[in-house]
Amino acid sequence: MVDNDVQLSLNGIGKQFRRQTNGRRRGRAAESASSVDGPPVPVLVDVTFDVHGQEFVAVIGPSGCGKTTLIKIIHGLLPAEHGVVELNGEPVTKPSFACGLVFQHAGLLPWRTAQRNVEFGLETKGVGRAERTRVAAEHLDLVGLAGFEHYYPHQLSGGMQQRVGLARALARGPDVLLMDEPFGALDAQTRERMQEELLKINESTRKTVLFVTHDLDEAVYLADRVVVLAARPGRVREIVDIDLPRPRPPAADTKSMAEFVEKRRLIWTLINSSEEPVGTAGSVGSAGSVGSEASA
Ligand SMILES: Nc1ncnc2c1ncn2[C@@H]1O[C@H](COP(=O)(O)OP(=O)(O)OP(=O)(O)O)[C@@H](O)[C@H]1O
Ligand SMILES: [Mg+2]
Repeated sequence: MVDNDVQLSLNGIGKQFRRQTNGRRRGRAAESASSVDGPPVPVLVDVTFDVHGQEFVAVIGPSGCGKTTLIKIIHGLLPAEHGVVELNGEPVTKPSFACGLVFQHAGLLPWRTAQRNVEFGLETKGVGRAERTRVAAEHLDLVGLAGFEHYYPHQLSGGMQQRVGLARALARGPDVLLMDEPFGALDAQTRERMQEELLKINESTRKTVLFVTHDLDEAVYLADRVVVLAARPGRVREIVDIDLPRPRPPAADTKSMAEFVEKRRLIWTLINSSEEPVGTAGSVGSAGSVGSEASA
């Protein structure tokens, strides 16, 4: 791809937090304490990569390496100390409708039905009532929830709630979809089904997707490229191209392909590389999830 295909660009992103050491405080005391206590700890250092239009990029890294922080910076929810995020060639300074967000927990409003939850995302965009109703129904249908429009969140399974969250994000018509471990809370079977569903949905919507995960299989199965982050501080270890066919065959078939096995092993090795400075390499759990790097 050529440079003018770049839709999302991260250039030298750096972020640090100050650790609060005086225990929990409330209100004004907490605000002042968090700003003065503890030395700054770098969380992200010089994170640089591009995402091209309609590309599906996965970001993988150990727990605590800064993935959610990175997503928040990209969305404009958090400022970076260093570097620039550009979306469609413009620097990101605050959240916009051009970027949709899906988190691990759908965060649905419990007093609203599935339909009204999706409509909520459109209300905040100022879309008129009739149009809201139409667009929300269309997107619930897209995520396989036709017939469940009038169900409340507590009447839906975890997977169905995530579908509503996805419908809500897509209905707002973002250029880029940011997904932060959206299937992390689901059981293994539901998770795999949701991955297949997401691929199908993305075949029709053709969104640019940045998908954060700590699951190796998920990253390789879904993505065109996988950005491997090292931890403490979070930084790009390597970017791996995934040369698997699109539309991607069902998970069981794809996971037996030589390219899948090879890239999975490569990323596993990168995450465990002994080239990492002492105390920074992630560990990999037996199920293929990257281990915790949560700091003290
Ligand atoms: N508001 C904050 N103040 C201070 N430290 C923070 C803050 N937010 C995050 N951190 C620290 O930044 C580091 C990265 O956190 P982040 O949530 O981005 O990690 P992550 O890679 O998303 O982890 P996980 O895989 O567990 O979701 C952690 O060490 C965390 O403690
Ligand atoms: Mg996170």
